[in-house]
Amino acid sequence: MAEISHGVAAVLSHLKGGDFISSSDLTSEETKALLDLALQLKSGDRRIDLGNRVLGLIFTKASTRTRVSFQVAMARLGGQTVDLNPQVTQVGRGEPLKDTARVLSRFCDVLAIRTFAQKELINYAQWASIPVINALTDLEHPCQALADFLTMHEAFGELQGQTLAYVGDGNNVAHSLMICGALLGVNIRIGSPKGFEPMNKVIDQARSIALGQTQIEVTNNPFEAAKGAQAIYTDVWASMGQEGEQVEREKAFKEFRLNKTLLDQADSNAIVLHCLPAHRGEEISEEVMEGKSSRIFEQAENRLHVQQALLAALLGGL
Ligand code: CP
Ligand code: NVA
Repeated sequence: MAEISHGVAAVLSHLKGGDFISSSDLTSEETKALLDLALQLKSGDRRIDLGNRVLGLIFTKASTRTRVSFQVAMARLGGQTVDLNPQVTQVGRGEPLKDTARVLSRFCDVLAIRTFAQKELINYAQWASIPVINALTDLEHPCQALADFLTMHEAFGELQGQTLAYVGDGNNVAHSLMICGALLGVNIRIGSPKGFEPMNKVIDQARSIALGQTQIEVTNNPFEAAKGAQAIYTDVWASMGQEGEQVEREKAFKEFRLNKTLLDQADSNAIVLHCLPAHRGEEISEEVMEGKSSRIFEQAENRLHVQQALLAALLGGL
């Protein structure tokens, strides 16, 4: 069994006890070190036993991948998970967040929270005395971005200088891809319809993080975004909480489908990514989703490996 290199362990030791509420909570070195550890965990070269620690899951929105991958990650680290669904806890009946966060900090060792407002997550992080992880908010999905770049790394090796094109809604997934891409030296091109671009403050943030030659670009032309990219990525047109805008969004996004014509604009070896769940025939065609360029199911699996690495680092188990 390989030992984690001193360099990676030393870099990750800075994360012990901290929160992961935004992709920008990590430095470039820490992001790379987490991906290295995730690869070692995935290959079986490294095992980590955290000794019966407990992860609390507070999910206000639906989830398959995030919930199950966190549960399995914790089990593989020798720990346990407790489901703190707001519908069955006092949170759903209005118990103040500042009380809940302090009480849960006395039972659990780490919390993963999926909710709407980033502000709510920040509030939990302020009141909890244990690490708080963003399991998706309306602003960001940072655990997803780690899995996405691990998948790209497995396909191409060195990430620096590669280009990822994201075509569709400038949403939580797009935001974390921009920030995490900037940290890793991956050029990010976002192609979104007018009015659905990523938030300006996140574009500015990603550009200020981007090293040297790394480009963070936003266009309203999906073909321009896709041109020559090594990875092409999309997500649903209406995220959780936006179901009422479905019809309006279908109209706005109809030229932003990830189909064969769009994929043909990308590099000939380009891989296709989607965070899932997908709506076949809307943002992605069946042909592309099931085609030879798709790495979508490897990407889903990688959620498990990156989150195992993240939990180990936050809980100081290295
Ligand atoms: N990609 C993702 O976060 O999936 P879930 O909504 O199923 O967790
Ligand atoms: N943008 C999507 C991602 C789901 C994993 C949503 O927020 O619903």
